[in-house]
Amino acid sequence: GTSAPLGPRAASDPAARRDSSFEVELASNGRVIAVPCGTSVLAALRGAGLELLSSCEEGICGTCETGVLGGVPDHRDSVLEPAEREVGDIMMICVSRAQTPRLVLDL
Ligand code: FES
Repeated sequence: GTSAPLGPRAASDPAARRDSSFEVELASNGRVIAVPCGTSVLAALRGAGLELLSSCEEGICGTCETGVLGGVPDHRDSVLEPAEREVGDIMMICVSRAQTPRLVLDL
């Protein structure tokens, strides 16, 4: 095996290991909203004028569960079961992010 551990490039690129920016698209109207580093999907959507329910905002209550119609979520909540994470059709937008440049949300 020649598989190397994470090289210096990955280690020195915080964006690759932590939050990166991405976009969310609202399925209902096609509107695209940017989610910057360090900003939750929930906060970005609220900043864009959407009224959304939340409670814990720590990924533990499930209040902010949102349907995902496209893209792959990066689940960071403590609500979903492993099988639900794999399916990837719902996410907790208070903490979870994206593995793809854009998510299409059922909003
Ligand atoms: Fe509680 Fe998102 S607000 S899981």
